[in-house]
Amino acid sequence: MKTQVGIIGGGPSGLLLSQLLHLQGIDSVVLERQSREYVLGRIRAGVLEHGFAKLMREARCGERMDREGEIHHGFFIAHDGIRQRIDLHALTGGNSVIVYGQTELTRDLYAARDAAGGQVIHNAEDVKPHAIDSRQPYLTYRRGDDIVRVDCDFIIGCDGFHGVSRKAIPKDKLTEFERVYPFGWLGVLSRTRPVSPELIYATHPRGFALCSLRSQVLSRYYIQVPLADSVEQWSDELFWDELKRRLPDDVAAQLMTGASIEKSIAPLRSYVCEPMRWGSLFLAGDAAHIVPPTGARGLNSAASDVYYLYHALVDHYHHGDDRGLDEYSAKALARVWKGQRFSWWMTTLLHRFPDSSAFERRLQDTDLAYLFSSRQAQASLAENYVGLPF
Ligand code: FAD
Ligand code: DHB
Repeated sequence: MKTQVGIIGGGPSGLLLSQLLHLQGIDSVVLERQSREYVLGRIRAGVLEHGFAKLMREARCGERMDREGEIHHGFFIAHDGIRQRIDLHALTGGNSVIVYGQTELTRDLYAARDAAGGQVIHNAEDVKPHAIDSRQPYLTYRRGDDIVRVDCDFIIGCDGFHGVSRKAIPKDKLTEFERVYPFGWLGVLSRTRPVSPELIYATHPRGFALCSLRSQVLSRYYIQVPLADSVEQWSDELFWDELKRRLPDDVAAQLMTGASIEKSIAPLRSYVCEPMRWGSLFLAGDAAHIVPPTGARGLNSAASDVYYLYHALVDHYHHGDDRGLDEYSAKALARVWKGQRFSWWMTTLLHRFPDSSAFERRLQDTDLAYLFSSRQAQASLAENYVGLPF
């Protein structure tokens, strides 16, 4: 098989890039290890910045997002009896975020690729990039007993944190930066009315909690849990009781509980690898960097990688200009690190760290007090939350 751009990973990064390239007449093949049902069964991001939404529209995939997604002009931070609204719209001069699930967004991207006859190959086993230090790279994957070869000009690694792409870069050429947090997020999805029309990020001596949503009939809640906890330890009843304890009393009193339709634990990690390009291999999204979910940056950081790569590939194929490809890693990383800083800051601000000293907890309280009292501090938070320009 032959294509121009071989993409590993059929998550949002890979699908969005494939669709954008298609609209510019550039051919790609997406190799996805899992089945489509499996990919669509993962419950992940819920908050999209306007830059991501714009890119979805540019990919002609934004129609349902614009119809069914909710525009949020603000959110709340609850701390020590105070509920502070962060007025995103007013603080950023008119920006906002869209609440639209990653599952739905992925469904829309699949639909667009299908409609255009795009090649998204599921259940591709043992995907391997080859000859990435040459100008004739290729991919192989296994289907049953057959090994299939895909020749291409470029390989794009969009295969998430645990994928194979990053591992194909020689270890001595890669610098990794990492922070692993001593807790995870236990998330529950339930067919209940959300407790608040806008998100609530809540601090509590027992740990962080987040009230989010997918629609007015679908709620998404998270609580901070120790890393050693397993989903089996958390019955629905235990989850709701713990969530209520961590929310302001008036919010807890209004919380509508119900059976969970999904429950999972996500560990929290900050990670960046540099560079994001090696030879003919380019990394994008979670394959190159991970953030703790607190600032809702992960998918949004993936979007800027896709944006830079898309333009770089168009310049290469349409204008014979390789500057975008050459500058990709440095350009993408500059924005990635801003997302890293913000996610680390928001995680540090809002979580209870098991080994924190009394001094560190006082600083945390002071940081929150400053945020609640300073419009400038809120403006900085808002500017980062809605997304810095690409
Ligand atoms: P992925 O979504 O991980 O996709 C990678 C794909 O590659 C997968 O389909 C995988 O099956 C496939 N793959 C892996 N290995 C191979 C292989 N060897 N061969 C072929 N295919 C392979 N981000 C936000 O911006 N906003 C939020 O509100 C937000 N909330 C989050 C909440 C939670 C609980 C979590 C866990 C994450 C959240 N994120 C959020 C982060 C966001 O979900 C990720 O950043 C996003 O999924 C990254 O997309 P991706 O396409 O780069 O990677
Ligand atoms: C969601 C996830 C986040 O990380 C976040 O900051 C806000 C919302 C969500 O899954 O709804």
